[in-house]
Amino acid sequence: MFQADDVICLREVARGGALKSSTLLPTQQLSEVLEISPQTVSRRLKSLEDQGLIVRSMRSEGQYITLTSEGEKVLRKEYAEYERLFQETKDRYILHGKLVSGLGEGRYYVSLEPYKTQFLDKLGFVPYPGTFNIQILSMSQQVRKKIETLPWITIRGFTAEGRTFGDARCIPCKIEDIECAIIVPGRSHYPEDIIEVLAPVALREVTGKQDNSQVIIEVPE
Ligand code: CDP
Repeated sequence: MFQADDVICLREVARGGALKSSTLLPTQQLSEVLEISPQTVSRRLKSLEDQGLIVRSMRSEGQYITLTSEGEKVLRKEYAEYERLFQETKDRYILHGKLVSGLGEGRYYVSLEPYKTQFLDKLGFVPYPGTFNIQILSMSQQVRKKIETLPWITIRGFTAEGRTFGDARCIPCKIEDIECAIIVPGRSHYPEDIIEVLAPVALREVTGKQDNSQVIIEVPE
């Protein structure tokens, strides 16, 4: 059984051209790209050779390396595993959180007509008046940051009766297969640990969730 370090070394040898041709690959050069000592490179190459994954020929200019079919098979297997990994997790991010109560202000803002029209236009539904507040678990903070880099929909602010109502941004998401949207008020780019969700229905009623219930939010890529 080969080690992960061997596979990385094999990959680098292949990147050097040894997949399709015998390639002059000095140990020194591999040592620099792999950021390991020439002695370690020699040991890894010997291990790859012993396992039948590469062959080496010494010539006056230096060592020529070629991957064997077995070596290529090892790399293809790695490739297939990464492909499966990205395929399985393709198309959506998943956030884990728990339902919390807010200050009860969501209802007021969501019901304002200029926002409501934009929600219908841009999200495809008129939201239930209120926001479903979810506290994102710390284990999901990295995913939350990744979602930040996706394209968000801008909801424009407006002025009414001498008051200014700010912009917000939204991104479609799903909770228990219900089409919803995360809404972030203001222009803040800092990912908060509380996420507010708009939905066409009363999520507490439809999902039976209460404060502290676990909530899973799926965000399409
Ligand atoms: O700020 P807080 O979430 O407490 O209040 P709100 O935004 O005015 O929403 C009123 C109530 O409706 C809260 O209990 C929300 O969790 C709930 N809600 C819901 O069940 N489904 C939605 N789509 C939006 C809010």
